[in-house]
Amino acid sequence: MKNEWIISDNSLNEEDLLKNESIFNVSNGYIGIRGNFEEKYPDYYGTIRGSYINAFYEEVPIQYGEKAYAFPEKMQKIVNITDAQNVSIIIDGEKFSLFEGTVKSLNRYLDMEDGCYVREIWWVSPLGKELKIKITRLASLKYLELFTINYEIEKVNFDEGIIIESGIDGDVTNFTNESDPRLSSGHANILSVVSMVVENDIMQIVSETKNSKKLVAVTTKHSCNVNCDVSLLNAYKVAKTIFKTEPGKEIINFTKYNVYTDSRRYKSLVSQGIDIVDKLSRKPFEEILNEQRDYLKEFWSLADINIQGDEKLKLGLRYNLFQLLQAVGKDSKSNIAAKGLSGEGYEGHYFWDTEIYMLPFFTLCKPELAKGLLKYRFSILDSARQRARELGHKKGAAYPWRTIIGKECSAYFPGGTAQYHINADIAYSYIQYYLATGDIEFIKECGAEVLFETARIWIEIGHFHKGEFKIDAVTGPDEYTAIVNNNYYTNAMAKYNLKWATKLYYELLDKDPQMLNSLCNKISLLEEEIQQFARAYENMCLPYDKELKINAQDDSFLSKAVWDFENTPKEKYPLLLNYHPLTIYRYQVLKQADTVLAHFLVEDESDIQTIKNSYDYYEKITTHDSSLSCAAYSIMASKIGYLDKAYEYFIETARLDLDDTHGNTKDGVHTANMGGTWMAIVYGFAGLRIKENYISLTPKLPKKWSGLKFNFLYKGAHIQVDMSVDKTEITIQCDCPINLKINNVLYEIVSNQKIEIGILPNK
Ligand code: BGC
Repeated sequence: MKNEWIISDNSLNEEDLLKNESIFNVSNGYIGIRGNFEEKYPDYYGTIRGSYINAFYEEVPIQYGEKAYAFPEKMQKIVNITDAQNVSIIIDGEKFSLFEGTVKSLNRYLDMEDGCYVREIWWVSPLGKELKIKITRLASLKYLELFTINYEIEKVNFDEGIIIESGIDGDVTNFTNESDPRLSSGHANILSVVSMVVENDIMQIVSETKNSKKLVAVTTKHSCNVNCDVSLLNAYKVAKTIFKTEPGKEIINFTKYNVYTDSRRYKSLVSQGIDIVDKLSRKPFEEILNEQRDYLKEFWSLADINIQGDEKLKLGLRYNLFQLLQAVGKDSKSNIAAKGLSGEGYEGHYFWDTEIYMLPFFTLCKPELAKGLLKYRFSILDSARQRARELGHKKGAAYPWRTIIGKECSAYFPGGTAQYHINADIAYSYIQYYLATGDIEFIKECGAEVLFETARIWIEIGHFHKGEFKIDAVTGPDEYTAIVNNNYYTNAMAKYNLKWATKLYYELLDKDPQMLNSLCNKISLLEEEIQQFARAYENMCLPYDKELKINAQDDSFLSKAVWDFENTPKEKYPLLLNYHPLTIYRYQVLKQADTVLAHFLVEDESDIQTIKNSYDYYEKITTHDSSLSCAAYSIMASKIGYLDKAYEYFIETARLDLDDTHGNTKDGVHTANMGGTWMAIVYGFAGLRIKENYISLTPKLPKKWSGLKFNFLYKGAHIQVDMSVDKTEITIQCDCPINLKINNVLYEIVSNQKIEIGILPNK
């Protein structure tokens, strides 16, 4: 049914309009355009009109009140580039606007099967001229440079000609907000126009970032099915093409083709922009739309998750997966920004969000894209090594907490650079990718070096004390607790990193000594270091509280006072916007899952009772002020049998942006949470885990659902899980043997097979 693939919202309230600019963004991993109106809102309305290129950034100075050694001097910031959205329709001197005349009907929606965003409007001008307009736009998933807009215009009660003005506007600035640390507070003017061409039915604006002199070109052409008188206009920073259509009743079909090229990817961005737009504008819009549909058909054939019995959540889940596809960088030069390409929150930066929350989806459903994301991390390994030296580490690599091209961009080190766990998170994702795909060649090419270099950091920052390996002065995922000793999450993940670096070293020594030898020469790695890795992980300190029988979040956490939740009114959340960090740091209060997340990622480090006790303890003091929290709690609630809770947390994740539950969707969608929704199903309800020589499943179904069906790939096998109330069917299509554990029973699959099991009872 079509409605199962449609997200619609017709509200014209200012707040909803802003939110929907993010919700209705069209992106393809290279370009991203917010869902602004072509004809704009009235001037008194707020808007964040934005177009972005993934990893197209400007370097801006960081201004500190007090600066200390090795603080980053500059940071990268995504640039709001030339606006190619502008199209106005004029009849009798009156401009079409949803805020003038009469709107007889409006239907505004995103179609996730076709991959386009549509507005269907029946409008009567103040002078009584009626128009039916359908505006369809998309960022092509096949031609990554292309953002195209199509207009179908029907003149209902008149046949005079109309005017269509189409512009590209180089007079753009970035969005700033002084009072929200999640947004930039300065540097709005970072792009300036360097040249404009308006000739031979082509408009092109080339702009340059002010400091780093990177170039971006937007090149535009049009097509129109009716005869027009066409004129071109070159005004201050704005190029325009004006079409005066001849009188007549024919439905006008008008397409605007905008092509984006930038100097980070294109050697001759000006001529290449023109060539590409020339080629693509020969394709009718319908053809581009069909190609978009085909791309998505293939995507959904594997990625779709069918929930039976919960239409709203199913839609939310599909929206989240669609956004992940729109956000993911597809060229190994870029990654997935915390807000995708839907807004400027977090300035287009990449965080650990990618590895821990989004890569799992790509690893299991689109492995070639996962590989691209991992290659990106490999491409910035040199910067990470340099950062390690700046931080005083003799060896190893320290991945930046937030970045675009590899240099640290975090100006607040207690919540940024101190989150050393990002090193282990990256290593973890390489290993999970390897275990899920068996792609040892890629591990030899990139993974081994990343694993060794990240592992080295733990030796640099850790030390032995009374026989245990301890790691001091780090911040774990919970940003309401900073700079602590022996954060359980960090230590447990570092252990995994060290263990796998050791394991891989000996595996390669056995299977490909020549390759290992040349890598060891390249990074001067000695076997003694590997022995150090082994000693460190074997003796890793993993804090445990004997009285509470839980893993302590860190050495000092449990001796702090508990935050006064009872007397904290609702409007004081998120705490980070209402309390000084030091106030927050003094209490037992979590922004997001920390130990609970570690219990998911490295579950074999603790027994199930400790995991359960810890969940019960930390849940009470977690605010979920970060959107990364609920998914982790949902997964773990499923694991320990709190199915109703797992379901409640899942609901929080599934519609977080659609319902704007965090109140900041206007700044962009929350991509990590979107990956978390998928994980809450696949790792949560279905209980998937990727282990060393097998994968395991422990399917459970929330009470409200009558069924759940999803697919994934494991070592080339296509696995379909079809859960219903009383049974689960697992269909495996494979050419080579794989091992699958279902509810703790091991199945050694050698060829295509179907397994049927009873489902675990709802608890
Ligand atoms: C979270 C971090 C996350 C960042 C970007 C913060 O609010 O605490 O864990 O990496 O947002 O999404």
